[in-house]
Amino acid sequence: MNSFPDLLRVEGLCKSFTSNGTTKKVLTDVSFRLGYYDSIAVVGPSGCGKSTLLLIAAGLLRPSAGYVRFEKDICREPNNKVAVVLQEYGLFPWKTVQENIILGARMQHIRIGDDVLRDVKHELGIEGLDYLYPHQLSGGQRQRVALARALLLQPKLLMLDEPFAALDNITRERLQNHLLTLFTHHRFSFLLITHNIEEAVFLGRHILIMDPQSAGIKTIIENQNAGAEAFRESPQYFDQVKRVRRSLQAKS
Ligand SMILES: Nc1ncnc2c1ncn2[C@@H]1O[C@H](COP(=O)(O)OP(=O)(O)O)[C@@H](O)[C@H]1O
Ligand SMILES: [Mg+2]
Repeated sequence: MNSFPDLLRVEGLCKSFTSNGTTKKVLTDVSFRLGYYDSIAVVGPSGCGKSTLLLIAAGLLRPSAGYVRFEKDICREPNNKVAVVLQEYGLFPWKTVQENIILGARMQHIRIGDDVLRDVKHELGIEGLDYLYPHQLSGGQRQRVALARALLLQPKLLMLDEPFAALDNITRERLQNHLLTLFTHHRFSFLLITHNIEEAVFLGRHILIMDPQSAGIKTIIENQNAGAEAFRESPQYFDQVKRVRRSLQAKS
């Protein structure tokens, strides 16, 4: 993987869950690195351990073995330079859009000026929604609110767990493009969890393919052309989609 020093380093992660007296291995020896202003997409079928990997990488769950390093420090708890958008967006249904947006910053005691708040809402096209509740929003609007909350933390690393999975294709593509624009403007790195092959190829400069059989990594495919909207129309994009699909289908 390219840059040194790494922003994120995941080394030898293992995770097992025990319930009703049986132990299930969910992650086995997972290692990868992510540089500054870089992106990685983690792809694999449902139940292969993607969310578990994200929670551990974000310091929200302890591994059974291995470690995660963010810049120079080993992560044992959430880091204020890492913003996480959880599966199903993580919005509180009893809080308004405005309250949901500022919640993350408030919890980390970050003061947000009115102008910064206005700019982020404008950038994401969610002005005028302040007093609505999440159930009054479309899926695309909910996702934008969750992204706004994460961006206000000015993260060096954004982690997203299946952020666009519940959206129709057109909204999904629009928000994927939007994520790339934010990536260019704000210069964070991101780790994106997805079970969608096209999404992984469009957004991830590295594509980490999980192997449900071994609970480890099947392969990491380099995909340096990702990061530009025009890539979606290029022959290289379609070749990469084929490559990733074959790799996911291959027996390990
Ligand atoms: N807290 C937990 N306790 C027990 N089993 C869990 C827990 N969290 C996840 N699992 C199990 O670990 C496996 C991987 O889950 P998850 O990481 O959510 O997969 P994915 O995000 O790829 O769909 C699943 O079989 C799931 O049931
Ligand atoms: Mg998941």
